[in-house]
Amino acid sequence: MLNLKKGNIMPGGSSLRKIILEGGVPLKGEIVVSGSKNAVLPLIAASLLTDGVSLIDDTPWLADVDAMCQVLQHLGARSDFSEGSLEIESDGLNCVEPPAGLVGKMRASFLIMGPLLARMGKVRMSLPGGCAIGARPIDLHLKGFEAMGATVSIDNGYIDASATKLTGSRIYLDFPSVGATENLMMAASLAQGVTIIENAAEEPEIVDLANFLGAMGAKIKGAGTKVIRIEGVSSLHPTHHTVIPDRVEAGSFMLAAASSGGDLLISNVICEHLKSVTAKLHEAGIQVEEGYEGVHVVGNPDIGPLDIKTLPYPGFPTDMQAQFMALLATAHGGSVVTETVFENRFMHVSELNKMGADIKIDGHSAIINGVERLRGASVRATDLRAGAAMIIAGLKADGITKIDDIYHIERGYENICGKLSAVGARIKLCDD
Ligand code: EPZ
Repeated sequence: MLNLKKGNIMPGGSSLRKIILEGGVPLKGEIVVSGSKNAVLPLIAASLLTDGVSLIDDTPWLADVDAMCQVLQHLGARSDFSEGSLEIESDGLNCVEPPAGLVGKMRASFLIMGPLLARMGKVRMSLPGGCAIGARPIDLHLKGFEAMGATVSIDNGYIDASATKLTGSRIYLDFPSVGATENLMMAASLAQGVTIIENAAEEPEIVDLANFLGAMGAKIKGAGTKVIRIEGVSSLHPTHHTVIPDRVEAGSFMLAAASSGGDLLISNVICEHLKSVTAKLHEAGIQVEEGYEGVHVVGNPDIGPLDIKTLPYPGFPTDMQAQFMALLATAHGGSVVTETVFENRFMHVSELNKMGADIKIDGHSAIINGVERLRGASVRATDLRAGAAMIIAGLKADGITKIDDIYHIERGYENICGKLSAVGARIKLCDD
């Protein structure tokens, strides 16, 4: 566990915990967005690339951050979380096999593979499982490591990879995988020679990682485009970095404002990262004003129907698909949401239908027939973003909504009940 400053409560306690909320209250006021979960997890992994103490400010206080730090501590590194800053020291790195239990619990722990290969020349880890939203294979990661000269074998559910010294290579990703781009960028930072990653992911989290690695002394060009060039260096040094704001948390609160018919200022936002979300809200008739410090969202009861198709960045983000479905459940008319990134990311449809939504799944698309009202019900969070969708639906439903399996939500939303109740939501976390 992270060394806690007194008073921090680590989320993710008893599995009996639930969120209970009552709909009908328009949210009003300001919400400050936390640092990005999907940016900070690769930064924590990247800290393994060097000795010394790295500091990551604006680190969100999440179960996934704790899990990633537990993995690092198992490997011999030290981490200390205090006042939103995460300190990581990897001088004592003495193990190349993270605990299977932790790898299975948190897929992103797979991001330590590139740093361990680059720094220690070896890594052994259990194959990360799939999850509710899909099989989540890692073939692109492994193909990239092999292209850089690693020997990779899979036996009995474990991956063994080794390389005396990784060598630069040209790697084409069949799919612009976020994790594969991150893992390979980290491995290439200490490889011999130049690595070119083509068809790379362009997400903001890739750019944040490239900035972090650059500050450590890595030579990276093109992050945020489809072609990233990494010139390997002999060693890196620790750095002090502030993680980017969480664009998916921000988008979720934008939809909470729209759904509740409220008026919210959502601050600590990089508006550029939310272009597709803002465009879709405008199309649905929701007023969104972008400013330097954040976005101002004013909801309205007459939400127009929308057609949405998820795509790799800068396309519409798959991580916002469930939340939009909750909003469109009461739009005027029919909407179609097509999921192209993951093969099973419609688990929230049945939960929304329990609340009175009228949604049918047709292959990779969900056909939404807007209904007048939703009604509170007992539902469950089927994955992290589906959990946020249940909250968004509950904010506008008639009556009380109870959400089970909220450990999913606590993986990616820091103090979500506290943030929402501070702007008027009737919401609370219950132990049973
Ligand atoms: C990252 O997952 C995010 N997680 C996900 O956020 C996000 O949904 C996803 O990127 C897409 O944007 C973190 O950053 C920790 P991918 P990742 O590799 O890296 C296929 C959330 O809710 N693929 O881009 O695992 C894969 O099956 C989470 O915060 C391969 O086929 O995503 C999927 O269909 C959920 N082979 C697609 O690519 C591979 O080797 C996208 O996966 C790798 C991926």
